[in-house]
Amino acid sequence: MPPAAAHPTRRTAIPDLRVAVELRSPVCVVRSYRADDAASLAKHGNNRRIWENLRDRFPHPFTETNGLEYITRVLQDPDATSFAIDVGGEAVGGISLHTGSDIERIGAEMGYWVGEEFWGRGIATAAIKLVTDFAFTNRGLVRVFAIPFTTNVGSIRALEKAGFAREGIMRRSAIKDGTVREQYLYAIVRE
Ligand SMILES: CC(C)(COP(=O)(O)OP(=O)(O)OC[C@H]1O[C@@H](n2cnc3c(N)ncnc32)[C@H](O)[C@@H]1OP(=O)(O)O)[C@@H](O)C(=O)NCCC(=O)NCCS
Repeated sequence: MPPAAAHPTRRTAIPDLRVAVELRSPVCVVRSYRADDAASLAKHGNNRRIWENLRDRFPHPFTETNGLEYITRVLQDPDATSFAIDVGGEAVGGISLHTGSDIERIGAEMGYWVGEEFWGRGIATAAIKLVTDFAFTNRGLVRVFAIPFTTNVGSIRALEKAGFAREGIMRRSAIKDGTVREQYLYAIVRE
């Protein structure tokens, strides 16, 4: 399969202003969201163990309405780079790129999650690699970074397996669930 198949999406009732994306690996497909992903996003995303490692804008509890609102926002934004992580035809997680602005427009922050029943199968690692390659080859970016909590061993390991390097520690850089936290800065660059 080519890394990104570009064709108009016609599968949803939500007006979709973007070009569909489908990136394949042996363990998962990273693809554009569909309106009918809302139920499986809620099924897999409604998990405190996921929420506690993400920004507060990731809802908890995570309902089907939350899923549909998110998908609608993504499908209506032609610049959105937020995709489903699909295993066996089901959206079991999500991965997104947030491109910087002004002088930082050459890079993007990556965020991702995978449903707990799929942890430890190399799915996040594969999705990170696919979307990093997409960022470099399709979006022309030269840097992708992520800032996992220093306690997030699974995410750190997935980033390192995907070729990201630790650039530093961001001390007392976030508050989650009432506790001030430290985050590592991980990045991969295209020379
Ligand atoms: C982090 C997350 C995306 C990883 O997804 P995944 O599909 O399980 O990741 P992978 O299987 O590709 O890689 C995880 C690696 O971490 C390892 N790992 C996970 N938890 C671990 C722990 N507590 N101690 C040591 N290693 C651990 C796994 O064994 C695996 O390494 P291996 O392949 O060498 O065995 C998933 O746990 C998740 O969604 N967590 C909640 C949300 C989140 O943290 N998102 C990232 C925010 S920066």
